[in-house]
Amino acid sequence: MALLEVRNVSKNFGAIRALMDVSFAIGPGEVVGLMGDNGAGKSTMVKLIAGNFPPSDGEVLVNGEVCHFHKPIEARAKGIEVVYQDLAIADNLTAAQNVFLGREITKGVWPFRVLDKQAMIDRSAELFAELKSETRPRDLVRKMSGGQRQAVAIALISHRMPDVFAVCDRIIVLRRGTKVADKVTAMTSPEEITGLITGAILAA
Ligand SMILES: Nc1ncnc2c1ncn2[C@@H]1O[C@H](COP(=O)(O)OP(=O)(O)O)[C@@H](O)[C@H]1O
Ligand SMILES: [Mg+2]
Repeated sequence: MALLEVRNVSKNFGAIRALMDVSFAIGPGEVVGLMGDNGAGKSTMVKLIAGNFPPSDGEVLVNGEVCHFHKPIEARAKGIEVVYQDLAIADNLTAAQNVFLGREITKGVWPFRVLDKQAMIDRSAELFAELKSETRPRDLVRKMSGGQRQAVAIALISHRMPDVFAVCDRIIVLRRGTKVADKVTAMTSPEEITGLITGAILAA
């Protein structure tokens, strides 16, 4: 039996449809990655499971039991805990610095290590090219358009893709509130997941 099941869940905020008929199940011991672009519905899904608010439609089941959480403490009583990590992009840094935030590339011979700025700029330029974005690695995020910021956020995500692939048994992708993929990690690739996130691949 699934430890956690999300069954035909939708969530509206007024006219905004943050989640539309999303279903998935997570078994005991499974590590599942939930991926998606900004606004895809990830936070809304996590908040729903954690009891911050109820779904507009559908249900959340824990150990096969339908739960009607209205407060996080009710979800916590069923063993659900959320650990937050802020992955927001930093306005005062360049596009390349954001992509490598917290995992900067260094060079040198021990014990001398310095930041390899050129390598980070080159790799970011490659990522932006893959995303067909005109974002330049040295541009400050503060001065960027919405679309460019989005490309930076996605490039950040792609860069963390190896972590997701190393840790997760399964990857679920949300796009615009809809589940577009639910794949065993071994049966997909970072390229496919990036395509599903951006919409270059419609569903898999
Ligand atoms: N409290 C809210 N009120 C109105 N709209 C919201 C609220 N929370 C999220 N949304 C909207 O729902 C959609 C999904 O947002 P979110 O779950 O935060 O996406 P993600 O975490 O994947 O970036 C977005 O369009 C967002 O603007
Ligand atoms: Mg979010």
